[in-house]
Amino acid sequence: MKAVAVLASGQGTNLQSLLDRASQPDYPARVRLVVSDCGNAAALERGRRAGVETLCLDPALYGNRDAYDESLVDMWQRRGIDLVCLAGFMRMLGPRAVLPFQHRILNIHPSLLPAFPGLNAQAQAVACGVKVSGATVHFVDLGMDTGPIVWQEAVSVYPEDDEISLGRRILEVEHSIYPRAVELWARNRLVIQGRRVYIK
Ligand code: GRF
Repeated sequence: MKAVAVLASGQGTNLQSLLDRASQPDYPARVRLVVSDCGNAAALERGRRAGVETLCLDPALYGNRDAYDESLVDMWQRRGIDLVCLAGFMRMLGPRAVLPFQHRILNIHPSLLPAFPGLNAQAQAVACGVKVSGATVHFVDLGMDTGPIVWQEAVSVYPEDDEISLGRRILEVEHSIYPRAVELWARNRLVIQGRRVYIK
């Protein structure tokens, strides 16, 4: 059974989808830790309600990003965390966090990467006039939403869409693909070769 830490800054609906799926007996991973950089994140309440350990790490209490990231890794290692899932975590992780956990940190992003990385991906898609957007689960590397792609699913963009309506439909897809990607990882079915991720 793999131990998962979820990092979230906001409402935590992706965290919820992982908590729900991971509470089922046939699932090969359990959420053991929820971390937020924001004390009033709804994600922390979701974690508490599910009986999972929750922690808030306030960046203001750390001198710099390296110190913050080292403390994250220390926390993961002390608890025997196998996999870290970023789920709306609004801080970029630097080398002190990413390198010790290489290929063990996943992120979910609300676009079909490499299109529309960074903030407000749904608004970027609407503004650009694309007909199709979607969601991506990828490994985290040192770039902004650039790591090897594990899973993507497309969502149609309709003429009447705004970022809210599109975001809602993308979020539904996120809730289905993130737990599936975590399951593939936990069952050792992901083989990473350079930028490519093969599913065994
Ligand atoms: C999601 O759209 C995710 O793709 C992005 O941040 C949002 C988090 O939503 N990285 P939630 O907090 O999981 O509801």
